[in-house]
Amino acid sequence: MAARERLIVALDYPAREPALAMVDMLGDEVLWYKVGLELYLAEGVRVVEELRGRGKHVFLDLKLHDIPNTVAGAVRSAGRTGAELLTVHAMGGPAMVQSAVNAAAEMSPGLRIIAVTVLTSMNLQQLRATGSYLSPERRVRRLANMAMLANAHGVVCSPQEVAALREIVFPKITVVPGIRAEGAATDDQSRTATARQATLDGASMLVVGRPITRAANPRDAARSLLLEMDTAFRS
Ligand code: C5P
Repeated sequence: MAARERLIVALDYPAREPALAMVDMLGDEVLWYKVGLELYLAEGVRVVEELRGRGKHVFLDLKLHDIPNTVAGAVRSAGRTGAELLTVHAMGGPAMVQSAVNAAAEMSPGLRIIAVTVLTSMNLQQLRATGSYLSPERRVRRLANMAMLANAHGVVCSPQEVAALREIVFPKITVVPGIRAEGAATDDQSRTATARQATLDGASMLVVGRPITRAANPRDAARSLLLEMDTAFRS
């Protein structure tokens, strides 16, 4: 698959104007955009439709987590927006993940359900406070296994887990954020890797925000990331 099919730019903006200005600046370089809670709660379905109108693919990162019936309803609503990837929390359990997958299959066969394993902000101490005594790594594997048994179309994981999850998830999708160039500012991310390393480790899709959207020249930054992904993929 071409690198452009595997790069998702995160539109972490509070309103549609700066988000769409970035999309227009990136032009044909970028095919996929992630709309998260910040932008979606500010602008709603309209911003997804505007992206679709520009011929873009949308990853709706709403991290749904509720009882199966409620999540199924939310998935049906998300399916109507034209988004093609939607996140749910694996922690909602197998019945909830399966219910999301079923709702997507009935309502919108183009919509794929991606399960979030352990948030990258969680460490051992944070997990223990929730009553979980597995290490983050074991917990990620456990939840990824569970999500696959519940027929999720893929998982979100950090670049440091993607190699270990490959066996569990392949040929389904691994969506990997936390991408940073060697020596670049990590911002608030702690478990980062380069686009090259994440690609070599088998990530299917990379989610990149600030390294592109806050670059002096976002289009050049996107181009060089795509080149890095392509080179790693071919090797
Ligand atoms: O700017 P940056 O490249 O760090 O953006 C990464 C994007 O991926 C953000 O939108 C962030 O919310 C998202 N994300 C993440 N870690 C997760 C899940 C999503 O960084 N575990």
